[in-house]
Amino acid sequence: MSLQAKSETNIGVLIVLALVVVIWGGMAQIIPLFFQTSTTEPVDGLEPYSALQLAGRDIYIREGCVGCHSQMVRPFRAETERYGHYSVAGEFIYDRPFLWGSKRTGPDLHRVGGRYSDEWHRVHLINPRDVVPESIMPGYPWLEENALNDPLIQDKMRALNLVSHKAYTDEQIAAAPAALEGKTEMDAMIAFLQSLGTHVKIRR
Ligand code: HEC
Repeated sequence: MSLQAKSETNIGVLIVLALVVVIWGGMAQIIPLFFQTSTTEPVDGLEPYSALQLAGRDIYIREGCVGCHSQMVRPFRAETERYGHYSVAGEFIYDRPFLWGSKRTGPDLHRVGGRYSDEWHRVHLINPRDVVPESIMPGYPWLEENALNDPLIQDKMRALNLVSHKAYTDEQIAAAPAALEGKTEMDAMIAFLQSLGTHVKIRR
């Protein structure tokens, strides 16, 4: 009996052969990624988030912005025409956790850094309808009123060092509390938004 005939009459043989095919195909796709610098190394020019940007990133998480905004430009014409260069793996080396998201009630934000002025973001975040009359985004006026209070910032930077390429030097960690002094949550959020997608010198 040929192997094909056996696999068509014996379910056990079919399962084993199917597993071999799926495992082989999976390995062929996944294993090379561990050795490609484009997926394991930061892109040229990428910097870890500064203490202020990092604090802003945590506020972005706290406020649930990821529920309406993705941070992942896909490699499709319709997206690159609108947002700029598609996102590449090496841009997310310092992102823990990832904020790619999958829900786009609002636009993708991965290339929003530098697109608007700080003042635009301030007005927009307090009341989006002041700059985009038809906007359905909620306002976040408390960001402007809340003093930035992030007593764990140094611990966060140390924790990130454990998981992402030793991002921060001891000097940067020591200087972190001073960098946050006198800032509001709004300052941190804007610093974070303005950093998005800008570290990379790719054609936009
Ligand atoms: C209920 C859904 C929703 C939530 C939650 C939300 N947004 Fe938005 N956002 C929108 C929509 C819709 C727009 C497009 C209209 C506008 O510009 O206001 C938008 C636009 C934006 C823009 C302008 C993007 C561009 O390219 O023009 C920024 C920046 C932004 N949001 C940041 C935030 C931040 C930061 C948070 C969390 C504090 C947040 N959004 C929460 C729906 C949302």
